[in-house]
Amino acid sequence: MSFDLDAWLASAPPSPPIVQAGAGVLRRGALEVGHHLLGTPALARLVEIMVEAMRAAPGVGLAAPQIGVPFRVFVAEDDAPRMAQQSAEARALRQRVSLPLTVVVNPRVVPTTGDEATFYEGCLSVRGYGALVPRAAAVAVTGVDIHGSPVGFEVRGWPARIMQHEMDHLNGTLYVDRMIARSLAGEQELPRLAALPVAEVLGELVSQRGHA
Ligand code: CO
Repeated sequence: MSFDLDAWLASAPPSPPIVQAGAGVLRRGALEVGHHLLGTPALARLVEIMVEAMRAAPGVGLAAPQIGVPFRVFVAEDDAPRMAQQSAEARALRQRVSLPLTVVVNPRVVPTTGDEATFYEGCLSVRGYGALVPRAAAVAVTGVDIHGSPVGFEVRGWPARIMQHEMDHLNGTLYVDRMIARSLAGEQELPRLAALPVAEVLGELVSQRGHA
């Protein structure tokens, strides 16, 4: 399997739509970015398009398959305007700290702790929903940048969640594969549920069993 990035760039619209769940490209594992692409204008342009798509959405992360490109590349960024959507208390609970623009090619994401955190999470490719997803509380990320220089860092809290979510995309996994299924919520319910302590959500949605 291979993918012609130059041909894709030549035919893609300037702002490609974000692929939605059900598309095969989100379910197949993505391809390693070959050495011949590192440092090329084509790879730089792909990342530029991804960053624009993430900011326009707006989202805090985007993997290449989400714009239809089956390569192992993700971008992530979280800043004050995006974080302002959440109360200071909710941010503190999630350890949601700002994350400067991060681009990783051929990434590896490895938990650095056995501790987990469970919070509501959504995905630009599963529009309109969110669910509780347990994730490792801290991870180490390695890979290369678009020029092939090594990248390596450790993050915890919300940035660690973002890294795990984007890494999953490159392996054909969506958060719905990892969610606590009964916590699934539509966008009308999400702000209310996301503001509740997780134990309360579990009590309201997960521990309930129907009487029907
Ligand atoms: Co996603």
